Amino acid sequence: MSAFRLGSFEILHKAASGGMGDIWRGVHAVQDVPVAIKVLRQSGMRQHDFALVFRREVQAVAQLDHPGIITLFDIGEVSDATAAASGGALDAHSPYLVMEYLERGSLESLTYPLPWARTREILMAVLDGLAHAHARGITHRDLKPANILLADPSTGSPIRLTDFGIAFPYREGRSTEAEGTVSGTPTYMAPEQFMGAWRDFGPRTDLYALGCIAFELASGRIPFRQLDLVHLGMAHLEEPPPALQCPPDYPADFAAWVMRLLEKAPADRYRCCADAAGALTQLVPSASAPSRSPVVSWVLPADGAAGRSNGGMRRVVDDVRTCGRAQQAGTRRVGGAGRGWQEPPGGVAVPAHARAGPGGTSLGQARPVGWRGVGAEPHGGRGLVVSRYRRG
Ligand SMILES: Nc1ncnc2c1ncn2[C@@H]1O[C@H](COP(=O)(O)OP(=O)(O)O)[C@@H](O)[C@H]1O
Ligand SMILES: [Mg+2]
Repeated sequence: MSAFRLGSFEILHKAASGGMGDIWRGVHAVQDVPVAIKVLRQSGMRQHDFALVFRREVQAVAQLDHPGIITLFDIGEVSDATAAASGGALDAHSPYLVMEYLERGSLESLTYPLPWARTREILMAVLDGLAHAHARGITHRDLKPANILLADPSTGSPIRLTDFGIAFPYREGRSTEAEGTVSGTPTYMAPEQFMGAWRDFGPRTDLYALGCIAFELASGRIPFRQLDLVHLGMAHLEEPPPALQCPPDYPADFAAWVMRLLEKAPADRYRCCADAAGALTQLVPSASAPSRSPVVSWVLPADGAAGRSNGGMRRVVDDVRTCGRAQQAGTRRVGGAGRGWQEPPGGVAVPAHARAGPGGTSLGQARPVGWRGVGAEPHGGRGLVVSRYRRG
C-alpha cells in the first residue's frame, strides 16, 4: 500500500489494530507533524454501540487539555475519494480522529516489575492526568496499560492517557447505558463495573483500575487472573487481593497504598486522585529509609528452608512471626524445632553478617519475604539470614 491523503494528513502505514478500528501512522502534509489516526472500521460502524463509543471518545477528549492526556488534532469522515485512494484500506464514511503520535508504545511494552522511581513517576503522572479529566466530570472507565502511552517526559508528562471511548460523564447523573450493562476490560474492572452499577461509577472507578495497574507495575502480576469472566468478576467482587510482593527498593507501605485503591466499596478507596497522589508522595523508598537494625535474626542452613520454594519461604515467615510474638511475650523460645532452625551465635543477638552490609542492614538490602518487618538475605552461601526488624 502506498501513502495516501486523508484531509490534511498523509497516511503512511497501519500502526495497530484495535477493537473497533485501526490506528494509522500519518504525518501532517504541510507541517510534517507525526500523527496517529484512529479510523473506525465499516464492520464497527454497523454496530450502533461502536459509533456511539467513537463519538464519545471525541467528545470526551475534546474537552481535555493536559500534558498527561492525548491531544486531539482533528476529526472527520473518510470521503469516497479517500476510500478509493486507500485501495480498500479505509471504508468510505468511516469516522476518524487524528491525534499526536507517540512512538514509545504503551505501558504494555515495559518489563515489570519496574524500579520504584519509574513506578512512582508513572503513577503520579496518571493520577495527574486523571485528576484533570475527573475535574471536568469525565471518568475514563477503561484504564489499563495498553491505554497509557509512553511519552518523552520533556513534553510535560511521561505518559498520555488515551482511548476515552467508554469515558463516562458522571456529573450528568444518567447514562445512555441500561443499568446492568458491563463495559471495560475485565482484568482492570472495578466491582461496580462488574455489577453494571453505573450510579456508582466515578473517579474511584478509575482509582480501582489504577490499583490493578500499580499492582502489576510493582510485581509483574495482575491481582486477579481467573480465566473466565464469571470467576474473574466474582474475584473482583468478593476475593481479597493477594499479598503484593514488591522489589526491595519499594517503600514498605506501597502495598497498603495499592490495597486502598483495590477496596471493593468505592467509598473505602481514596476519595480522589489528589488524595491518592498525596499519600503516594508520603511513601519513603526503602533504599533511602533510615537504616534499621534487626531486632532478631535467625540463620537458616542451606540444606534447610533456604533452598526451598516460595511455599517454604512462607513457612519461614510464619515461623519468624510466631517467634516474634513469643519473644514479645517475654519468652526466649527461638526457632521451630525440627525445621533446621538455628539460633545465631550469641543467642538472639544480630549475627555479624546481618550487621555487616554496606551502610548497615536494612530492609533495602534484605529481601522482604511477604510480611512487613521481615527480611531475608543470603548468608555467605551457607544459608539464609531471616531477620525481624523494628517497624518505623
Ligand atoms: N496516539 C497514538 N500514538 C501511537 N500509538 C497509538 C496511539 N493511539 C493508539 N495507539 C496504539 O494503538 C493501540 C489501540 O489504540 P486505542 O486508542 O487504545 O484503541 P482501541 O479502542 O482499539 O483499544 C494502543 O494500545 C497503542 O498501541
Ligand atoms: Mg485501547
